Amino acid sequence: MSNAAYMRPNTRKAYTSFVDKLNKKLQKIAQAWNPRDRDLFLIRLERYFADFYEPLASLYQSRPDFEEQFMALASLIIAAYAERPEPLKKLDVEREITPDWFQRESMVGGIYYVDLFAGTLKGVREKMPYLQELGANYIHLMPLLKPREGANDGGYAVEDYCAVNPELGNMDDLENLATELHSNNMSLCIDLVVNHTAKEHEWARRAMEGDPKYLDYYFTYDESTLPDAYEKTLPEVFPDFAPGNFTWYPNMAGKGKWVWTTFNEFQWDLNYTNLAVFCEMLSYMFFLANKGVDILRLDAVPFMWKRMGTNCQNQPEVHELLQAFHSLMRIVAPSVIFKAEAIVAPQDLIHYLGTGRHTGKECELAYNNSLMVLLWSTLASRKVTIMTHTLLNMPATPVGTTWVTYVRLHDDIGWAITDENAQAVGENGFLHRNFLNEFYSGKFPGSFSRGELFQYNPANGDGRMSGMTASLAGLEKAVEKGNPRDIDLAIRRILLLYSIIFTYGGIPLIYMGDELGLCNDKSYLKNPLKANDNRWMHRPAMPWKVAARRHDAETVTGRIFKEMKRMITIRQQTRQLHGASTAYPLWTDNEHVFAYVRQHPAHGNMVALCNFSEFPVTVGANILMEQKLSWPIRDISQPDNPPLRIEWGRLALQPYQFLWLISEDELNQG
Ligand code: GLC
Repeated sequence: MSNAAYMRPNTRKAYTSFVDKLNKKLQKIAQAWNPRDRDLFLIRLERYFADFYEPLASLYQSRPDFEEQFMALASLIIAAYAERPEPLKKLDVEREITPDWFQRESMVGGIYYVDLFAGTLKGVREKMPYLQELGANYIHLMPLLKPREGANDGGYAVEDYCAVNPELGNMDDLENLATELHSNNMSLCIDLVVNHTAKEHEWARRAMEGDPKYLDYYFTYDESTLPDAYEKTLPEVFPDFAPGNFTWYPNMAGKGKWVWTTFNEFQWDLNYTNLAVFCEMLSYMFFLANKGVDILRLDAVPFMWKRMGTNCQNQPEVHELLQAFHSLMRIVAPSVIFKAEAIVAPQDLIHYLGTGRHTGKECELAYNNSLMVLLWSTLASRKVTIMTHTLLNMPATPVGTTWVTYVRLHDDIGWAITDENAQAVGENGFLHRNFLNEFYSGKFPGSFSRGELFQYNPANGDGRMSGMTASLAGLEKAVEKGNPRDIDLAIRRILLLYSIIFTYGGIPLIYMGDELGLCNDKSYLKNPLKANDNRWMHRPAMPWKVAARRHDAETVTGRIFKEMKRMITIRQQTRQLHGASTAYPLWTDNEHVFAYVRQHPAHGNMVALCNFSEFPVTVGANILMEQKLSWPIRDISQPDNPPLRIEWGRLALQPYQFLWLISEDELNQG
């Protein structure tokens, strides 16, 4: 078998000279490499060469220095591989032969701010028993690399990618934590901000001084002509506190320059039309991979390539870049996978998992933003039609990839429901999105929610939503009123949403505090660096005193924690929930009932039914026959209950109840 023989003629030619060069370098260090490492490295190189050469050639070949810079990649990958610690090399092989490791039903994620959860990285190690008790084994620690001083967008303005935020610890702490997680069968995900750096990053400082090499690392302009032309089609991410996409620095390079700043003024967009930028970011990836990070969350990927006349998101070149990063990672550190942070419309989202000629070559994971938005949309409207229609029209995840599913995370909720999808079920998208803003900000009559609008634009009615799950689902209001029925309904809503992300397909992520029903935290208002950004209301510190009540079933905290934990345990034992088994929604004969099926080739189907209303409802039971479930059928979410009963051909669901239905014979097969 020869992967080289399989290459296109031009690629093969490039491969031959690349390997030549590489071998010369290798000869010099050959003594230091054991033969098996060397073989593995060369086999992987041959396998993945085309996957990085072709995208890089298509993006950069026209630049005069392409040849030279491309060849420099040889040294880069050799150096990174040489530094890879032995235990991680073993993990690489393990995961190469278990490529579905991250798709397994046992995977359950938790998202934590290091400082808010445990103070420091060492503190996180001390809190491991809490994570293990919950059942979380994929630990996403929010931005922890050294940020700029002052406001830093929650850590997404990185000054030094090779240092940990000194308030949280140092690189050794990160490495030790990764080792400890691995020895407990857990994995570590961290953020890598690939689209921009802080303006205090060394490259930016040099650009500021006028160094031409580093000016070419960013998008800089002497005059406003080009920025103005781009602005015509660019949306604003933070219209309230960071309007526009460019910033004028009067002293830059001695004469003043405009810089592309999609997010905040202090976050400078990187210029990926420059291959040097790609190589630098790649070496950061390798550096972090060699510290033991398992999953790199690639922040703001859709913005990585700009094109005049577009919104400068989701450009085809972004997918070339991702493929090149991905294949180079497969050579040096194949146990590391990528998660795309692409919070984009449903039709653009799937491509981050690799489609068409990028199939199997981009990110293994991406946020299922559509599902998240639709959960909240349905909870407000009590009607499952938009959700069912939209999800039915979403392509299945490509082989070897899966979603991360979530109810909430650290960002606002943007109502990514298209006009077309709303219209298809007789709704008006614009009005529906307006309704969601009114409902979740609590203005809509009868609303149970306590959210707050984020970046609202009165001119066009666009707005997004901040708030913790519990507050948006009605718990804050209900507890304040002290009404037990409302409290009960709010808890049911929280559990209903989580029941779906635990079973719809992908790695479910629990956002810190949701497992305890934490509500909005307004203390950020007292901090001048945070006060203008209400996303901080849903980034609370872990109240360990509250967490201590989690075993008391009489408390709201205890009720939520117990049920969450129960769902997690069941998920982790249910083969049908392996990420490779397809998930798609089913129409039912009741507009309040959301249904979906997980189809496992070996273990049969699981059908889930979810009542999105506060009333008892019934739904036609034929849906189960249609999905080839055979009697007796069990609701595995309540394993102690007797088999399912049907009356007059209909199944009954209590307010916000969900059922996870599996044929008993599948269960008996274990
Ligand atoms: C991502 C982060 C968000 C941040 C932005 C800019 O979307 O999730 O919190 O503001 O990137 O880095």
